[in-house]
Order: sequence, then C-alpha cells, then structure tokens
Amino acid sequence: MNYRRFGRIGWNVSEIGYGMWGMAGWTGSADTESLESLERSVDLGCNFFDTAWAYGDGHSEHLLGKILRANKGNAAAGGPDKKLYAATKIPPKNRRWPSRREFSLDHCYPPDYLVEYVEKSLSNVGVETLDLIQFHTWEDHWLDDERLPRAIEALRSSGKVRAVGISLNRWEPWNGIRAVRAGLVDAVQVIYNIFDQNPEDELFPACREKDVAVIARVPFDEGSLSGTLTLQSTWQKGDWRNSYFVAENLKSSVAHAEALKPLLQDGLSMPEMALRFILNNQDVSTIIPGMRKTHHVECNLSASAKGPLSPALQGELRKHRWMRTPTDWSQ
Ligand SMILES: NC(=O)c1ccc[n+]([C@@H]2O[C@H](COP(=O)([O-])OP(=O)(O)OC[C@H]3O[C@@H](n4cnc5c(N)ncnc54)[C@H](OP(=O)(O)O)[C@@H]3O)[C@@H](O)[C@H]2O)c1
Repeated sequence: MNYRRFGRIGWNVSEIGYGMWGMAGWTGSADTESLESLERSVDLGCNFFDTAWAYGDGHSEHLLGKILRANKGNAAAGGPDKKLYAATKIPPKNRRWPSRREFSLDHCYPPDYLVEYVEKSLSNVGVETLDLIQFHTWEDHWLDDERLPRAIEALRSSGKVRAVGISLNRWEPWNGIRAVRAGLVDAVQVIYNIFDQNPEDELFPACREKDVAVIARVPFDEGSLSGTLTLQSTWQKGDWRNSYFVAENLKSSVAHAEALKPLLQDGLSMPEMALRFILNNQDVSTIIPGMRKTHHVECNLSASAKGPLSPALQGELRKHRWMRTPTDWSQ
C-alpha cells in the first residue's frame, strides 16, 4: 500500500481507504462479512475509514469502533497498535440529501446541533477524539452566516475532533470552492471517477492552493464502473439504488461503462482501471471505494501497488468524461 499526505493536516493516509456506507445502508450486508472485510483491509495497509452517523443511524460507526479497538493498544503484548483514521459525518438536521440552495444553516447544521452529533459519533465509534468530522451535505452560501466559522473553530478547539471537512453534493464540485478558499476546512470529499472529472477544473486547484486534502468518493459510480451492471440489474426492495439507477440512468450508465470495456487489456479489470485512473491524480489524498467483501478489498487495495496507468490509457479514459448535473433522481 502506498501512502499520501492528507493535506495540511499532514497525516500519512493509505491512498486507498475504505467507504463504509454499503455495510450499514444497502441491502445484502452482513456484519460478520463486513468486519472480516474491514480487518482484511487493515492487514493490507488500509488506514483511512469513511463512515457517517446516517449509515444505519450509527451502525457503520459502531462497526468502525470494533475495528479500531481490535487494532489498538496491545503492542507491548505483541499485538497490533495501528493508527487508523476515523472520518465520520454529521447528518443534516432536516435529513435531506442532497442539500438545496434554499436550505439555511438552521435547517441543516445549527451550531448546537453540530456539538450534539459530534458527541453521538464519539459515543458510537467509542473514542475520545474523532480524526475527521465532515458535514454530510454542503452549501457554500452558509459561509454568509457568521456563526459557521465560529462553530467550526469551536469544534476544533474542543479537542473532540482533529480536523473538519465537507462532503459535497453529487455533481456539484463548484459548491465547496468558497469554503476551501476561505480556509475553513481541512478536507473535501467529492465524487471523482472516470466519468466525473469535473472536480479537476476548479475544485482541485483550490485544494492544492490551500493544501486541503481531497477524499475521492464513489470511484465506481455506485457500481457501473465496476463493470458488473447490466440493463437487467435490480436490487432488493428498499435498496436506495432502485431510486438512483432508475431506468433512464441505468440505461445510460451501462452504455457508458460498456464503452470502456474495449480499453481493458493485459488482464486489467474494470475496478482496477477505475481506481488507477483516480490514483494518477496527485491532488487526491485517498480514494474510498465502498466494500463489504474480502475479495473486493483484496482486489481494490492491490491497485495501489500497480502504479499509474500508462499516459496513453489515461488519455483515452479522459475522453470518457461524462458531464452530468443534478436531477430529481440523483440524490
Ligand atoms: N454524501 C456523501 O458524503 C457520500 C455519498 C456516497 C458515498 N459516500 C462515501 O463514499 C463511499 C464509496 O461510495 P459508494 O460505496 O456509494 O459507491 P462506489 O464505491 O462507487 O461503489 C460501491 C459498489 O461497488 C462494488 N464494488 C466494490 N469493489 C468492487 C470490485 N472490486 N468489483 C466489483 N464491485 C465492487 C460494491 O460491492 P458490494 O455491493 O458487494 O459491496 C458496491 O456495490 C461510501 O461507502 C461512503 O463512505 C459518501
């Protein structure tokens, strides 16, 4: 596993981290399997874990706590004592994803509520300090509310969080640049993958300038870039992907993914290509693929050692940029 600097915070994080939504929100999850996958990732050098209170109302945070405890503190007895970074998120008070322009700070993150949810996450993960707390949705216009910078500073000085970040709404990389430029946040989480290259335009240069860490999420476009979706793909009742991969989106996602398959040569798989495309960008501190199975962990984490894609292939993949803007199904 290769490691990268986490922006001005300076942590040495695995360039492939771990996305923990699926294991506590998508159908088909089993805790035993998820915990085995998490532990396997630690064995393979993963040290950055992204969860959220909203992933099962604290369930994913509890799973992370188990892994932190299993790897902490008994080095003297010959056991492991690994520094694992715990990143979690405060849900918007109105429980609306994505955020909308008309939502105010009071709708989503009033200052007292921020403190309340940091406490809930501390208790769920079972630690005294969270490494990274993120706003689970974001609106740059909240910066007009003078309580926000004070509330963020209060979180940092409370000693309960080491760093503060924002998680940007789907396909809105522009809606966070002001927060980065204001020096307000230490990390930005954004969708960045072969299709969604837009963060490269303005967000990444701003992060570079302010030395803000970039967490690249949804590397497989929720599944299409793993190459496994077909026009017949369906999910169990209650799985959120039924509302994301609506017929219109499933059709175009499968078509865009199929168009990549002729580029796969010399044993390269779709998931590996998707991850190595992102690794080619040095603005990214860590990628957080969603994983629940040990064989996915092993496959995905092995991409780190394989190095950059060839300039020719990277150039070809750049042509598969897919310009998308939020719609009524793109929560
Ligand atoms: N608003 C936000 O802040 C926000 C929103 C979305 C995501 N996130 C974060 O980003 C993380 C990643 O996003 P995501 O999980 O939504 O989507 P993703 O990483 O793009 O895709 C996850 C899907 O890819 C599958 N997969 C993983 N590795 C694979 C492999 N090697 N081969 C084939 N399939 C593979 C997973 O399989 P299984 O189904 O078998 O697990 C899952 O179905 C989340 O877990 C979460 O931590 C944050």
